[in-house]
Amino acid sequence: MEGTADSPPSLPRASAAEQLSVVATMLVPTLARGPVLRRPFWEAAATALDTDGRAGRVLRRMRAAHGPGPVRVNVLGRRGVLLLTPDQVRRVLMGSPEPFTPASREKEGALAHFQPHALLVTRGDARPARRRFNEEALGTGKRAHALAASFLAAVREEVEVLDHALGADRELTWPRFAPSCWNAVRRIVFGDSAREDRYTTDLLRRLRADANWLYLRPRRDRTRAEFEERVNEYLDRAEPGSLAAEIARTAAPAGTDPAGQVPHWLFAFDAAVITAFRALALIAAHPEEAALVRAELAGHDVSDPGGVAGLDRLRAAVMETVRLWPTTLAILRDSTAETVWDGATAPAGTAFVVFSAFFHRDPDHLPHADRFAPEAWLEGNTAGDWSVVPFSGGPARCAGEDLVLFTTTALLAALLERREFRLVAPGRMGPDRPLPHMLDHFALRLAGSAV
Ligand code: HEM
Repeated sequence: MEGTADSPPSLPRASAAEQLSVVATMLVPTLARGPVLRRPFWEAAATALDTDGRAGRVLRRMRAAHGPGPVRVNVLGRRGVLLLTPDQVRRVLMGSPEPFTPASREKEGALAHFQPHALLVTRGDARPARRRFNEEALGTGKRAHALAASFLAAVREEVEVLDHALGADRELTWPRFAPSCWNAVRRIVFGDSAREDRYTTDLLRRLRADANWLYLRPRRDRTRAEFEERVNEYLDRAEPGSLAAEIARTAAPAGTDPAGQVPHWLFAFDAAVITAFRALALIAAHPEEAALVRAELAGHDVSDPGGVAGLDRLRAAVMETVRLWPTTLAILRDSTAETVWDGATAPAGTAFVVFSAFFHRDPDHLPHADRFAPEAWLEGNTAGDWSVVPFSGGPARCAGEDLVLFTTTALLAALLERREFRLVAPGRMGPDRPLPHMLDHFALRLAGSAV
């Protein structure tokens, strides 16, 4: 910690070697894998190199070397601070949006490509109204959304189609799983008429691919205008049972920009699809847990929203999946004012980084770090634990969490009702060895036999 009689000390600083390790194991892999749209080649390469496992070891070594920190890093001229303890995570996430705004410079650069008015990158006076709008339309805090029956029907019908397509001997792979899920997502967001409108979601994919380059790629205004026009058509139609209908009946004070929130919802459902597929793989690889889930399904009517909302064990399996393999690789906050840490200061404009994969697998805080332990969620051990933040936390916590948990649980229940799955690839995953730090969803393969 440096400082003179006149100036306050600043935070401990990473050594040149530590900075290099941070760039090699965190920054480069995150950018290569695609922070906004995953790139299959780089996801496979990062997984083969176990970059998240390496990043975890780097950060643990830094915590041992510097004490609890947090530790300053300077990358490409950007002042950053790496958080190293759950208490620091709590402070930063609870301190959102002031003095720690979610609208970090990198996110603003990335999201400007397709959702400049999204809540996540909204600062100042517009934020409270946009937050309220998102919470109301998405049913934040409710286990079953007001339109849950319609969402459930969409999910179950798509699973039925998928099940038929798989037949007796086809494996469930990402290219088969994801398109079915996207049919359901389009129905949930826009209504049944959007089921096959891959063009709209493909336009968004193109914009998201640009967003992977943050502010380095020029914006495609024509593509964005075409995408927005199609979104607006669906919102005008407000098909009953869809989020578009929910938008139409949700209060939106001037400046809320309801249509400007929708790209984020669509984009974020990608994480839900990835998580559902990984959860299925985890359950398949853990026969004891699979038996407990089946016992739970037997006691619930999963064709009814209330039945799905009561699937605590399956819901816990989803939470555990996103703990083990967080889909938001790093939660970023920019400070809007100088902040003081144990007497040391960090100036306004500093980027604070919660590297989720490090916290979620930190054996110093989680005895079950590398195990599939849904019971931790059931026993309430995660309540108030700021080392596990897959949906972030505090006032800017994910507004879609409950909707995600409902839809993914419904999807898994519908699949497990029909089939018993066996994990084909990766081959060596199970309760008898630590779980890998990374799980490439593009490469998962499951064999399913009728139950
Ligand atoms: C597995 C699926 C998902 C995960 C793990 C997840 C996780 C997160 C995380 C970590 C954040 C905070 C990001 C940050 O501060 O940089 C966030 C924000 C947000 N998420 Fe999600 N999300 C998921 C799906 C969804 C879905 C499907 C929706 C909407 C339908 C949604 C709506 C939002 C919104 C509106 C915010 C911004 C909250 C704010 O800034 O106040 N999320 N999510």
